[in-house]
Amino acid sequence: MVNIASKLSEIVGRVSVSEIRELLKLVEKPGIISLAGGLPDPRLFPREEIAAMVRKVVEEFGEKSLQYAPTRGVGVLLDELKAFMERMGVRVRGDDGLIVTSGSQQALYLVSAALLNPGDYVVVERPTYLAAIGVFRLFGARFIPVDMDKNGMVVEKLEEKLRRAKAEGLPVKMVYTIPTAHNPAGTTMPDDRRKYLLELAEQYDLIVVEDDPYGLIVFENKPFTKLKTLDRSGRVVYLGSFSKILAPGFRLGWAVGLEEIVSAMEKLKQYVDLHSSTLTQYVAAECLKQRIIERSIEVMRMVYREKRDAMLEALEEYMPEGVEWTKPIGGFFVFAWLPEKIDTRKMLRKAVERGVAYVPGYAFYVDGGGHNTMRLNYSFPTVEEIREGVKRLAEVVREEL
Ligand SMILES: Cc1ncc(COP(=O)(O)O)c(C=O)c1O
Repeated sequence: MVNIASKLSEIVGRVSVSEIRELLKLVEKPGIISLAGGLPDPRLFPREEIAAMVRKVVEEFGEKSLQYAPTRGVGVLLDELKAFMERMGVRVRGDDGLIVTSGSQQALYLVSAALLNPGDYVVVERPTYLAAIGVFRLFGARFIPVDMDKNGMVVEKLEEKLRRAKAEGLPVKMVYTIPTAHNPAGTTMPDDRRKYLLELAEQYDLIVVEDDPYGLIVFENKPFTKLKTLDRSGRVVYLGSFSKILAPGFRLGWAVGLEEIVSAMEKLKQYVDLHSSTLTQYVAAECLKQRIIERSIEVMRMVYREKRDAMLEALEEYMPEGVEWTKPIGGFFVFAWLPEKIDTRKMLRKAVERGVAYVPGYAFYVDGGGHNTMRLNYSFPTVEEIREGVKRLAEVVREEL
């Protein structure tokens, strides 16, 4: 027998198989309401339109839609994306480059590969997106976690941490943020914070990665501006995704930022997958051109708002005193804080026995915090499941108190 453990690369050891993933396997049993996932509501996929577009694309573009394509992405999609970003308020600068990626997850991987050396520090929100933490770890990064409140990253705390890091001579390379409809926190940063964050990035010469997969799934009329649009010096790399606005199965996202960075990403992508799926790129381009995405976003906003409302109402009605939660204006998640004495990791098994699941929040903290927090998803379950799920969860929480 080969001793495989001795053969595996050091990189494999930098990330671990999530304990949560293991626990959540239990959730697939019938009768369990899962508030743990993060999937879009499949009823919102514009299936008929997509089916028609696949046929149209193959007939119209013929072999081109089935052939190898440039690493940057197919021309029609790059053109449609530029126009789409303009309509959506994402400013593309004259010195910017654009690249299509296999989901925004790959964009995260490529931007990290392009910028990070082992030992570099990345500023992250506390909590932050789990799979971003994993990518940064793969590249040997270290973290500067910054607390969040109901308006997202507390930028005063960021300033304090950057000042200290500078005094200690730490190599801080970038800030990773999800300013709009945060996963997992459910928060959206107001513009004054966004401007302050960019001023600090300027002062400390940092790259800012703006991860924005939920930026269009916003259902309240609160004005805010993309960091990319506020950026004056070209230090923001913006990551977009088709996963929530069309369908995750397309595996398409994109990155726009200074050409030098994007061209480094392109160089690396060649060795990862040559290019993203040609067929889905053509279909996505056609969906943008015919405004299928913009039309379905309208429906998505209505449906997700109703589900968000159902979750907030149920939390209000059933949760005991001492439990707090965010009130998202968009996205898929509510984040909740339970009284300090509750460990949500331990409580999960009991919750699953009672027929409800959530994600314990500690997984989203790079520094071992968040033991009493949890992420609740409202995009996938039905309104009835949300109400019943929160009710069951509240009973478990009461017993823990
Ligand atoms: C904050 C955030 N970034 C990136 C992704 C990756 O999305 P995708 O690769 O499907 O575009 C997700 C997916 O849930 C996410 O929540």
